[in-house]
Amino acid sequence: MQKTIKSFIAILLAGSPVCLSAQSSVPVYLDETKPIEQRVEDALSRMTLEEKVAMCHAQSKFSSRGIPRLGIPDNWMSDGPHGIRAEVFWDEWDQAGWTNDSCTAFPALTCLAASWNPEMSALYGKSIGEEARYRNKNVLLGPGVNIYRTPLNGRNFEYMGEDPYLSSRMVIPYIQGVQSNGVAACVKHFALNNQETNRHTVNVNIDDRTLYEIYLPAFKAAVQEGKAWAIMGAYNKYKGQWCGQNQYLLNDILRGEWGFDGVVVSDWGGINNTRQAIYNGLDMEFGSWTDGLSEGTSDAYSNYYLATPFLKLLKSGEVKEEEVDKKVRNILRLVFRTTMNTKRPWGSFGTPEHGAAGRKIAEEGIVLLKNEQNLLPIDLTKAKKILVVGENAVKVMTIGGGSSSLKAKYEISPQEGIKQRIGNQAEVLFARGYAGEKSKAQDGLQVGQDLTDNRSEDELIAEACNLAKDADYVLFIGGLNKNDGQDSEGNDRSGLGLPYNQDKVIGALAKTNKNLVVINISGNAVAMPWVNEVPAIVQAWYLGSEAGHAIASILTGDVNPSGKLPFTFPVRLEDNGAHKLGDYPGKEEETYREGIFVGYRWIDKEKIKPLFSFGHGLSYTTFTYGKVTADKKEMTPEQTLSLRVKVKNTGNRKGAETVQLYIHDDKSSLPRPVKELKGFKKVFLEPGEEQEVVFTVDKKALSFFDPAKHDWIAEPGTFEAWVGASSTDIKSKITFKLNSL
Ligand code: GLC
Repeated sequence: MQKTIKSFIAILLAGSPVCLSAQSSVPVYLDETKPIEQRVEDALSRMTLEEKVAMCHAQSKFSSRGIPRLGIPDNWMSDGPHGIRAEVFWDEWDQAGWTNDSCTAFPALTCLAASWNPEMSALYGKSIGEEARYRNKNVLLGPGVNIYRTPLNGRNFEYMGEDPYLSSRMVIPYIQGVQSNGVAACVKHFALNNQETNRHTVNVNIDDRTLYEIYLPAFKAAVQEGKAWAIMGAYNKYKGQWCGQNQYLLNDILRGEWGFDGVVVSDWGGINNTRQAIYNGLDMEFGSWTDGLSEGTSDAYSNYYLATPFLKLLKSGEVKEEEVDKKVRNILRLVFRTTMNTKRPWGSFGTPEHGAAGRKIAEEGIVLLKNEQNLLPIDLTKAKKILVVGENAVKVMTIGGGSSSLKAKYEISPQEGIKQRIGNQAEVLFARGYAGEKSKAQDGLQVGQDLTDNRSEDELIAEACNLAKDADYVLFIGGLNKNDGQDSEGNDRSGLGLPYNQDKVIGALAKTNKNLVVINISGNAVAMPWVNEVPAIVQAWYLGSEAGHAIASILTGDVNPSGKLPFTFPVRLEDNGAHKLGDYPGKEEETYREGIFVGYRWIDKEKIKPLFSFGHGLSYTTFTYGKVTADKKEMTPEQTLSLRVKVKNTGNRKGAETVQLYIHDDKSSLPRPVKELKGFKKVFLEPGEEQEVVFTVDKKALSFFDPAKHDWIAEPGTFEAWVGASSTDIKSKITFKLNSL
């Protein structure tokens, strides 16, 4: 009897307007056992036009409206790629002064890329996702994967370098880690946002082959393999349309070719036109600089392009309701994946575990560029006096740089880290060396550091050199500092050189003490006119809360450096294609004349010797490589080729080496780079240990994008596999053939 009544009620209800799950009184959209698309349709069917439109635009600086009537929460976004931004006021950029939003500052994404270790990327994504979850943000505005086209780009520190394959492999685990917390990763800035100068206006002209081979792969991997739930349209234009409202990028490529089912979020202030925003693929509009309260609106947000103007067009019938339904479906999918996923974890914030994660990523990303006479690691049995020189040894680096700025729970400076690590074994002295400009407060976050020093450059150098005379080691810690023009959002650098007279300081120190180590903290390549006078050079990045501990670990050898450069260090700016061919930064228009020849691709093509090459990084131990072998001499497009190479740690300390695989195409119908990165594997080896690394090569690894066919093609012919420790340190090669079917 009971069963009959139940099924009778179920039949009754099934036809009712309030579609309840037959098995329970829970409405379908609230029933997590139901397929998400069914829940989306059910929720959509319950919404009014006003409610639908309200979901498509911001209601505050970083939130958009849910549907309280249906129990659908608001959506809350938060920067950034390196940590969870401090809470801001409802309608202000300034931080709100909360006392519980001091986060873990993780290393910049250039450092993550420099680890060449997808496991670090997974750890990064999980950790930052836990912090976003704990702060109840369901969309993290990161990671950024714009390709490093010019060393002047102010935001390169937020991205993953010059190579599409490295960026593609490294972005996937980060996204998966973030989203494992029920927080959407919002990959940015889609696309072609490769500079900050004129970023709101420049229209990028680029050929299809370059777009598909260089600038899209990391976004495609993020969407198709990382399964990103959100993506952010860039500020710049492509084909004359702003990227946040761009038919080609958002409808044709993102949705049409890649099958993206997440939400498209505008950049803040990136939308400029209601109809384009409606029809060209945007779902959620944020940060628009509308003219405030025109059109009799109650607040600026209702004046957004996708707010009242959109509602009016819908009500007049000029725009069909299906246009807003498309957007709301994507937003509801985001909601069911995040805020209404009752099984998602609770997150954690500013924990020792996250600090440890940041430190591990930092230690794996620091790159030992040069180490003559094995000056490093510091010999603590001998070192009695160590001099640290340079403003970057003490300067707060987690605040500043634009939207990725953070209110960090703590930040260990390099000077602190070094003193903590060796202060009880050696005397650690400090000299300023140089004085940069005052730190730039950000979001109302005061740096709380007064680095004012009115001494002349000569006085600063004299002080440093006097102290350097009888030091056992001199550690110069300089570089850039995320102030305007020094690796910051909104403006590019004006040149490749180090600012604040640092070159002169380094030159003077090199003359004073041969045991000089230069630690460059930056998110970009810098010129090093003193490179031949300095025996040891370390590329440290913006390393976040654990900066000082990580740097000290590397300098003392507690950790053996294993980072490899994710971008080329050119000797001079004109060794870079964007500058040699001279269309950077453009004004209204900019043409990427160098095409696919970005980074080492340009260096190889022009036969230029870089200062330090893509993929370069030394170790305190040594590695030998065996000859690469292949399981076949010829392959068909349906087959794969298995390459094997042995790597041995021939030194006396454990270490990690990233074995890199580049593919060279002997002959092709279109010009191709001399080589292209198509595989890498980081191996951790005990002293004397040997491991065999295996790469699988398929036709995709041999392909190039043929714009005429609008597809990737692998042309039959002879190829070479080059295995190396960097793009210029090739250890062995092997030839093989791709046969036609
Ligand atoms: C900024 C940045 C973007 C950031 C957003 C919100 O202008 O371009 O990366 O996520 O606005 O702060």
